Amino acid sequence: MMDKATGLQLQAVGKVFQSESGPVQALEDISLSLAAGRVGVLLGPSGCGKSTLLRMVAGLEEQTEGLITLNDKRVTQPGKDRGMVFQDYTSFPWLSVRDNVAYGLKINHDLNMLKEGAVDHFLQAVGLEKFADAYPHELSGGMRQRVAIARTLANFPELFLMDEPFGALDPETRWQMQDLLLGIVRKERNTVLLVSHDIEEALYLGDVVFFLSKHPGRLRETIATDFKKALPDSSRETFLQSEHYRKLDIHIRRLMSEEGRRNAA
Ligand SMILES: Nc1ncnc2c1ncn2[C@@H]1O[C@H](COP(=O)(O)OP(=O)(O)O)[C@@H](O)[C@H]1O
Ligand SMILES: [Mg+2]
Repeated sequence: MMDKATGLQLQAVGKVFQSESGPVQALEDISLSLAAGRVGVLLGPSGCGKSTLLRMVAGLEEQTEGLITLNDKRVTQPGKDRGMVFQDYTSFPWLSVRDNVAYGLKINHDLNMLKEGAVDHFLQAVGLEKFADAYPHELSGGMRQRVAIARTLANFPELFLMDEPFGALDPETRWQMQDLLLGIVRKERNTVLLVSHDIEEALYLGDVVFFLSKHPGRLRETIATDFKKALPDSSRETFLQSEHYRKLDIHIRRLMSEEGRRNAA
């Protein structure tokens, strides 16, 4: 596996968009760190800059202030050390499930990796081994999203980026996908930065939740979810029933509605 050194660091990162009506400060003074092997969630109201921040970490968008480093390397452009999964299904419709998963591997790594069974490994991890020869249009939304996850993980990214990956799925499929993702990242020890606007999802998936306020987007609060380690088991039911979860849920709901009021004023 890849050497996973120090993780992700953002230092005083800001973003000003030049729009027709003048400059728009989308993000301001964001400093945060995410240790290797941890899951971080960017949570906040719509329009607070979550996607912009993720796109800057992906190298798809350039920050106008500050510094982003991944494992001590400065982020300036997209790179194979980062893999991104979007909300929309991004599989290639003309390739089978197997070839979709193999695609990134072929362009990024030598073919020995293929022989070592990386494709099969990740197909199995997302439960699609029986659908290896199917095409995306033959699959449900959840299954297509699993193809995208397998394909991204098969590239062995040092950082796995996801922008509301399960937002378009029905609730039951979303819960399944959240559990599937947690199972994989705990096993593979991936470093993950995920965008969500859903409090339950953020607290359930995240080791740490970065709550952003809006106009301009600032890091309002960093919430660690260490309480989950002390729960008797890692089931969703136990999590949802815990006193600690319910307190944090109410706390974050308050932050959300404060943000709503602040912007209405
Ligand atoms: N390309 C762009 N040009 C101008 N403004 C943008 C652009 N992309 C995003 N914005 C603005 O930046 C802010 C944050 O957007 P976004 O990152 O999409 O928020 P979120 O993902 O949290 O909903 C919004 O006010 C949005 O209108
Ligand atoms: Mg967004």
